[in-house]
Amino acid sequence: MLPWKRLDADQAPDGEVISLHQRGEEFLIRAGGRDLMSSRDDASSRALATLGCAALPQRDAVRVLVGGLGLGYTLRAALDAVGDGAEVHVAELAPCVVRWNRGPLAHLAGRPLEDRRVSVHEGDVRQVISRGPWDAILLDVDNGPDPLTHDNNEALYSRRGVEQAYRALSPHGVVGVWSFSDDPGFTRRLQRQGFEAHVERVSASRTGRGRYHYIWVARRPSRV
Ligand SMILES: C[S@@+](CC[C@H](N)C(=O)[O-])C[C@H]1O[C@@H](n2cnc3c(N)ncnc32)[C@H](O)[C@@H]1O
Repeated sequence: MLPWKRLDADQAPDGEVISLHQRGEEFLIRAGGRDLMSSRDDASSRALATLGCAALPQRDAVRVLVGGLGLGYTLRAALDAVGDGAEVHVAELAPCVVRWNRGPLAHLAGRPLEDRRVSVHEGDVRQVISRGPWDAILLDVDNGPDPLTHDNNEALYSRRGVEQAYRALSPHGVVGVWSFSDDPGFTRRLQRQGFEAHVERVSASRTGRGRYHYIWVARRPSRV
């Protein structure tokens, strides 16, 4: 088996070291010494946008916010799901991740940052959520409601975080949340806020074999 080669490393704004690795055709981002995202496991990242956008009543002149650029798969799937008149914003905490997506990672998801519908925000997605109204907010910034890499991300999934997302949505707007594991408490939190919410179990990889991930699709009901 080919050995991993470290291509670059940098610090996230919170001081955590993020590094980029390559082995043959495969790329891996590590954060704080843990694997964050591999190009082998793109299916659930894409499903986040596919499922989230499928829940929208229309998909042309929509405003979509993607939280966490990673390897660009969720952004690519969002671009493929919406029309020419859409705006797709992506918030990414680590400037090096944006830089890598303009360089060695650009080809993985078909160079999504070059799409004219895309605006990039370097910083915390929590600061961008309030710049709604959004038709869809698609969050894959960490491990899910039980964050692993950045403790600050816990606030996104808290009661206040869920309320902030709800208020930032347009009527019929949708929040999609990616997670490493299921969390019935998070489903209840979404429902208590007034969302019509359910969780779907999806394959992590395109082969359909191996691990599963979880995606919440939470819709602001039309009567509100
Ligand atoms: C697992 S990756 C996302 C993978 C992505 N779904 C894809 O398609 O490749 C998580 C990303 O979120 C970023 N991130 C973590 N916390 C964030 C935050 N609060 N705001 C914005 N980006 C954040 C990380 O730097 C990382 O790039």
